[in-house]
Amino acid sequence: MKILIFGKGYMGERCAQAWGEEATLSDVIVQTVEDALDEIRRVQPDVVFNAAGVKGKPNVDWCEDHQLETIRGNTTMPLLLADACSQAGVYMLHMGSGCIFYGDSPHPDKAWREDDFGNPKPVYSRSKWAADLALSTLPNVGVARIRMPIDWMPAPGNLIDKLSGFAKVIDAENSVTILDDMIDVFYQLLVKRASGIFHVTNPGTLRHRDLLALYKELVDPAHSCEWISNDELVSQGLVRKGRSNNFLASENLAKRGITMRPIEEALRDTMEKYAWMKRGGGCGTDCSCSC
Ligand SMILES: NC(=O)c1ccc[n+]([C@@H]2O[C@H](COP(=O)([O-])OP(=O)(O)OC[C@H]3O[C@@H](n4cnc5c(N)ncnc54)[C@H](OP(=O)(O)O)[C@@H]3O)[C@@H](O)[C@H]2O)c1
Repeated sequence: MKILIFGKGYMGERCAQAWGEEATLSDVIVQTVEDALDEIRRVQPDVVFNAAGVKGKPNVDWCEDHQLETIRGNTTMPLLLADACSQAGVYMLHMGSGCIFYGDSPHPDKAWREDDFGNPKPVYSRSKWAADLALSTLPNVGVARIRMPIDWMPAPGNLIDKLSGFAKVIDAENSVTILDDMIDVFYQLLVKRASGIFHVTNPGTLRHRDLLALYKELVDPAHSCEWISNDELVSQGLVRKGRSNNFLASENLAKRGITMRPIEEALRDTMEKYAWMKRGGGCGTDCSCSC
């Protein structure tokens, strides 16, 4: 399967590395339908994977003051890409975010379903939700929402690096995504040309406290932090807008016969590999990463 990947960032690079010769990681910055169409005609892919987007640097608070750049990257650009894919007759899988949901869902189990409407306030989350609303009406497009990626490879966007690097941490409980499992699920969705919305999160939920306890056990016994509340995160000026914390139910993957490992199992496996990497071990693949 020939996969054309747009978005040469954390997710695009990780997927390209895992998919090897099947993947072409594009350098093109998409600003028009023609930009995307030209690249699709050049590469002649079987499927397109959109890992391009604007998350804000150093974090999503940047998006609050850069609304148009955020909307262009997260709403306009995916629609241009979907237009090009439709014209070329190619399936597109788009990376969405579970951060369009804030708090508990109205369902008895408090978990958000794929078809539930988002309730975001921050600019980043709104721009992602706007894309989902439009893309999910298209027949040859899949939207794969992830949350708080956890990876064995140290990286600034890895939840392990983020939480272990904070002096003050909130003890939130969330649905999360283990990168290895995500990459495998994305591949299966691409093979199936699966349309609709998919919550790509591992079964179960994770408390920040449990992740850091495992970090302390396997990576750094000397690690410590101060625990604060979500409100204190904003009142102490550590972030501008409260972060999304939520549980996602993943019903549509199950309908396609796609499963992910329970979070406890996948987290321990990932943390063991992460500890190995931190001790200077390589990733064991013929990769281009700095390991
Ligand atoms: N990482 C997470 O925690 C997370 C969680 C949920 C969902 N997601 C979604 O997953 C996607 C990828 O995230 P990521 O972590 O890989 O982000 P990332 O590291 O910032 O990578 C995104 C890449 O897309 C590029 N890009 C922006 N606009 C583009 C355009 N018009 N055409 C082509 N490329 C463009 C960016 O280039 P520049 O750097 O030059 O701008 C960057 O290389 C995003 O849509 C994000 O919303 C990520």
